[in-house]
Amino acid sequence: KQSCYILAIESSCDDTACAILKNDKVLANVITNQKIHEQYGGVVPELASRAHQSNIVPAVDTALKKAGIKKSDLSAIAFTRGPGLMGSLLVGTSFAKSLAQGLDIPLIEVHHMQGHILAHFIETGNPKPTFPFLGLTISGGHTQIVKVTDYHNMEVLGTTQDDAIGEAFDKTGKILGLGYPAGPQLDKLAQKGNPYRFDFPIPKAPDLNYSFSGFKTAVLYFIQKETKNNPDFIAQNLEDICASVQHTLIEILFKKVEKAVKKTGIKQVAMGGGVSANSGIRKRLLSYQDKGWTVFIPPFEFTTDNAAMIGISAYFKYLEKDFASFDVTASPRIAM
Ligand code: KG4
Ligand code: ZN
Repeated sequence: KQSCYILAIESSCDDTACAILKNDKVLANVITNQKIHEQYGGVVPELASRAHQSNIVPAVDTALKKAGIKKSDLSAIAFTRGPGLMGSLLVGTSFAKSLAQGLDIPLIEVHHMQGHILAHFIETGNPKPTFPFLGLTISGGHTQIVKVTDYHNMEVLGTTQDDAIGEAFDKTGKILGLGYPAGPQLDKLAQKGNPYRFDFPIPKAPDLNYSFSGFKTAVLYFIQKETKNNPDFIAQNLEDICASVQHTLIEILFKKVEKAVKKTGIKQVAMGGGVSANSGIRKRLLSYQDKGWTVFIPPFEFTTDNAAMIGISAYFKYLEKDFASFDVTASPRIAM
């Protein structure tokens, strides 16, 4: 079997990413983070597209250099078609098309969420899930439980009806005065606090779906009430508040994961997305191994938004000659 080299582009949100894979092995995984959004406390779409436009060619050049290959060695170009921000997706889509056409090689479209799930199949030496398994994708943009039947067929069993879990971390962190993104800082503080000190409500959501906006509001009202009586309430209790917030978010998350395992009878859970870096969430997922679950957590570089996950997804399409047409368009709300 001949080796194939795939160059993959991911530009769905605020990271400009380019990866090169030789079959299922990653030769280069380049990510250019956009610092510009920090001062706004969130991603500004217009600024994201502009930054992608200036970052994309340098990211591709760096990836080629790291991989030690030439453009003429490439077998196919892959890109994220959606979901994501339209202006951001347009940059990656147009760039990928031009490069594929210039090199006269196939173009492969990838669904961003499928990428997060198939990241588990990047060759790292770690064990890989077998089909069927449940994918749990948790980040600043998504919260999904997905039934994965094979490399190409996935069914969303549950998703958030409002905020993503990463937003719940970031928005409650902001209420507590933490900088953006607040998730990692909240996690650090939580590790030193008492998770049972304060009680926050678990929002209701049907079946395997999630809701986080009510949680954020409950924290806000709680903080407003307490600081009225004691202006130093946050400073005096920060670690316990963070621990209690994190504990509640973990409860909300895993209640539905447990339900999904029960409903499907599938006991393999593969977690991905930036929020899977959370120490409490990792610990909780690993604890289910005692109940007979098999769990998977990919290396961090393949779990936050990255292009290697787009490359591995494209590899499985390449094997089936599942190529995109050159009139394909970016698709911000594409279904899975
Ligand atoms: O996957 P990601 O890098 O980008 C997307 O949103 O797609 O995820 C970023 C999110 C942010 O909301 C960030 O606060 C959260 O992941 N995050 C964490 C931790 N590390 C990153 N949330 C809680 N605990 C962490 N340790
Ligand atoms: Zn993502």
